[in-house]
Amino acid sequence: MKNLAPLINAALSKELHALIYLLGYCSQQGSFKVYAVGGFVRDLFLGRENRDMDLVVEGSAVDFAKSLLKVMPGTLRCYERFGTATLVLSKGIVFDMVTARKEFYAAPGALPAVEQSTLKNDLFRRDFTINTMACALNTGDFGRFYDYFGGREDLEKGIIRVLYKLSFVDDPLRIIRAIRFEQRFDFVIEEDSLALLTKAINNRLLEKVSKERLYNEVRLIFREPRPSKILARLDELNLFKEIFPRSVFSQEIKSRLQRLEQVLTEISPKEHGKTWNYLVLFLSALFFDLAEHDIKFLCHLMRLKRKERLDVLSIRENIPFILLQLQAHPISSSRLYFLLEDLPDEGLVLAVALASQPHIRGHILFYRDHLMEKKPSITGKDLLEAGIKPGPVFNKVLIKLHEAVLEGKVSGKEEELGFVKLLIKEQCAEE
Ligand code: CTP
Repeated sequence: MKNLAPLINAALSKELHALIYLLGYCSQQGSFKVYAVGGFVRDLFLGRENRDMDLVVEGSAVDFAKSLLKVMPGTLRCYERFGTATLVLSKGIVFDMVTARKEFYAAPGALPAVEQSTLKNDLFRRDFTINTMACALNTGDFGRFYDYFGGREDLEKGIIRVLYKLSFVDDPLRIIRAIRFEQRFDFVIEEDSLALLTKAINNRLLEKVSKERLYNEVRLIFREPRPSKILARLDELNLFKEIFPRSVFSQEIKSRLQRLEQVLTEISPKEHGKTWNYLVLFLSALFFDLAEHDIKFLCHLMRLKRKERLDVLSIRENIPFILLQLQAHPISSSRLYFLLEDLPDEGLVLAVALASQPHIRGHILFYRDHLMEKKPSITGKDLLEAGIKPGPVFNKVLIKLHEAVLEGKVSGKEEELGFVKLLIKEQCAEE
């Protein structure tokens, strides 16, 4: 295939399509040569739309990015020293731009020093052949396909192959990337590349990478649809324990993750457009059997934010008790509500995956779909307006009201106020 224009026309959404043409027009106007490279081209052949586009610019990527910003509203970050720029547009579309360059690595794991050069040189320094295909975007040359290193053939054969022997030495994170791509696409790592990868593991090259970079790469595993496969492969290659010290990848954990992946194909976030935090979700499942201090240590390694760490810990602490209580059948709506109300959304999903019996799963989904948002329509403010004085019974009354609403005993503002007034009378009589 010499020209990818028909593939681009057929495979991309209208909005990305239009943006790419506009981008091609701008590059022509500004006398830059611009190429889409890497994952975008690879995914085009695989029939997937990749909205995170890597662009190689002959000329200055920073100048080109600045010229783009004039016609595409977005957020631009420029790194003049590295000759790179990132333009973030709406709807998850990102253009990552680099100036065509040769990369020299000062030491294994270090950031590359940069010198200006051409497209082929830039592509040669990349990770795997399937990520080295390029496509010109300039209007005059739109769609011209470049495949210097046999990327298309390897993609068709389903092979992950490095371009040169020192690839894993230059960037040891490629060890994890190779495994991630292999498992994502159900490909195999080519024999010589696998030997280099194994050697890199045995030489403990990952230890040379900063923890920051290492765990940034590890976090990407949990954005994949099947992290369990990647973790199993890491374990097979003796890397799991190195990455997740104090943790073991047992058969039980693997099955748990697989059940979670299955559940994720069956249910979707309640609110349209909202998504779960997959890191919290999978790490909760992965660390479920560990002691609290080990979980804290691993959350720290994984650079979890405070809220994420608290969610993982809360899920770990509360799910066993909750699942035990949910064995009861039938269970009242208010009991169900108060058992589950403090569990983060991710905890609900994990609880569904861990539920040993169908009725437990039913309870959780009933809570999520029918109870979670069932709250009294009157608030403390309404009570004050109705002349009920704040006091020790105030909160008690509100909880009782919530219970009654959940049980369907009262509904609507008027009934609720009546219910509350009756309750207060009873309470006062008791005192
Ligand atoms: N790359 C590399 N070595 C790395 C990381 C990235 O050579 N350690 C190169 C690859 O050529 C890759 C490109 O930089 O295609 C962009 O990286 P990234 O966005 O992570 O890769 P994608 O292939 O787009 O990955 P994904 O499909 O996961 O978005």
